[in-house]
Amino acid sequence: MARMGRVVAVANQKGGVGKTTTAVNLSASLVVAEQRVLVIDLDPQSNATTGLGISPRSVDRGSYQLLLGQASVTELAHPTELPGLDIVPATPDLVAIERELIDEPDAPQKLKQAIAEVRDRYDFIVLDCPPSLGTLTINALVASDFVVVPLQCEYYALEGLSQLVDTIDRVKHSLNPGLSIHGVLLTMFDPRNNLANEVADEVRRHFHVYETIIPRNVRLAEAPSYGKPVVLYDASSRGSSGYLNFARELLDGLEAA
Ligand SMILES: Nc1ncnc2c1ncn2[C@@H]1O[C@H](COP(=O)(O)OP(=O)(O)OP(=O)(O)O)[C@@H](O)[C@H]1O
Ligand SMILES: [Mg+2]
Repeated sequence: MARMGRVVAVANQKGGVGKTTTAVNLSASLVVAEQRVLVIDLDPQSNATTGLGISPRSVDRGSYQLLLGQASVTELAHPTELPGLDIVPATPDLVAIERELIDEPDAPQKLKQAIAEVRDRYDFIVLDCPPSLGTLTINALVASDFVVVPLQCEYYALEGLSQLVDTIDRVKHSLNPGLSIHGVLLTMFDPRNNLANEVADEVRRHFHVYETIIPRNVRLAEAPSYGKPVVLYDASSRGSSGYLNFARELLDGLEAA
């Protein structure tokens, strides 16, 4: 029997913490480790879509149609420059999804239903969430096996986390009993910053924090404007090795479990 692909939500309702950078580069790094990976862009900002070389305005369908049940993953997935990495893009109409789903009793389960047909075709399905805890993130949490939480070590980092934890708990106790935070990924880390180190220690008291820490690295910020994951843009950069190490750590952890 084909192994069912694992569904990973990259979520944190705080903006700009590295969700999309993580979703794109974790996915590419998993492909380098010979996994078949699908990214689903669930953010109307379409950053993962652009970052993987697709112009959101050049495609007429994406995760919006997926959530409404108007098209299947098979119809919506695009190949990327990296063989083995596919993406369901986000188009600008995704901003309206909340309103579109409002009268649907099974609104939170739309994504789960939609990806069921391809779970044996991918080893990982990685969901890039928007910076909110609305319908899109709830759909991701309901569909996921676990959550990876990117976190930038700054003063208010932990404050928002309790809201995310509450939301994950609610989904766990209603629609997805197996759901958990797999770990917190420290991103844009600057080891010379004392506050960053203090926040990191505090996070470790409450959560499993991955051993891999993603450094602040300009290559990671540049790569999306070339429509490439960093491993194709500058494989020798510290950002690239950071995400390759993270993919390895994740795979080793899952194998051991
Ligand atoms: N490790 C890093 N080093 C340097 N720049 C980074 C790093 N990670 C992310 N960035 C940059 O920081 C900005 C925010 O990152 P990103 O878009 O991944 O965050 P996000 O959580 O997805 O944001 P949003 O909440 O808006 O979706 C982007 O410009 C990105 O290129
Ligand atoms: Mg993003």
